[in-house]
Amino acid sequence: MSGGSMSVTTFAGWTRGFEAEIERRRAQGEPDWAAGASLPGPLARSLQRFQVGEDGDGANLIRKADEAGDRDYAAAVRLFVAEEQNHARLLALLLGAGGMPTIAAHWSDSVFVRLRRLLGLRLELLVLMIAEVVALRYYRAVSEGAGDPLVGEVAARILADERRHVPFHCLRLREALGVLPGALRVLVMTGWRLLLLGATVVVAWDHGSALRDLGLPRRRFIADVMRSSSDVVADILPKSPCGELPPGAGLGSWETTDAVEGAGVPAPDRAGGVPRRPAVGTAAAHGARQSGRVRLSDR
Ligand SMILES: [Fe+2]
Ligand SMILES: [Fe+2]
Repeated sequence: MSGGSMSVTTFAGWTRGFEAEIERRRAQGEPDWAAGASLPGPLARSLQRFQVGEDGDGANLIRKADEAGDRDYAAAVRLFVAEEQNHARLLALLLGAGGMPTIAAHWSDSVFVRLRRLLGLRLELLVLMIAEVVALRYYRAVSEGAGDPLVGEVAARILADERRHVPFHCLRLREALGVLPGALRVLVMTGWRLLLLGATVVVAWDHGSALRDLGLPRRRFIADVMRSSSDVVADILPKSPCGELPPGAGLGSWETTDAVEGAGVPAPDRAGGVPRRPAVGTAAAHGARQSGRVRLSDR
């Protein structure tokens, strides 16, 4: 899947991709846990909370996927859940390498889980997508700013997976929202961005010390997440390229170089949720993906 050769237009394709990732991880082996990790207090507490969030058996999501009656999707969801559980395992081992325990629960995770349980598959995926989009920026900050080789490696591994999770959910949401009238779809995604903003502000507040130590001030974290969200919205709404690109390409523009380096409030066209990606198949779209503006998952 990392090579982008597999189609992502079907969930059977996604299943094969998740299975390929299992093989890739097996060949890659484990990080060097014995090297130990330097975990300053704020980062350790932050990682403990993300570890709780990654943990869970995903039974609720799997049940809803089963009820949806798409066997290919249900199979892919099981592999997705396993990948999230692997994140929890990696973070637990990383905390252990830094001499820190895991925690049993955190209020933010309890709220999140309860909210998801109340919802049907479509809305659950929208809530889950909030976590994925926030996680993209968080793990990139950890991978680039921690200054510890083991912390950086673990965060980079998780980040690579999260970059595939967004287009995976995106494909399902495009199908699920496609049955709604256009105006309602836009309303749903506007509401999603408002929820995302609220969640991002909470994360920025809750993890502010760690983010600051990682070189990412709260306001920039919020701005970067919201900027990336306009691309997610563009990918979910119809006639967008989410399901038509290989995983790396479909994902790259959600993390543009200026999102990494930019500061302050995003440009209005991006903050407003207006698709800024050229139409698929156009020379401009191809050029944008080839220009280096886009950061692909092969880093
Ligand atoms: Fe994860
Ligand atoms: Fe994820």
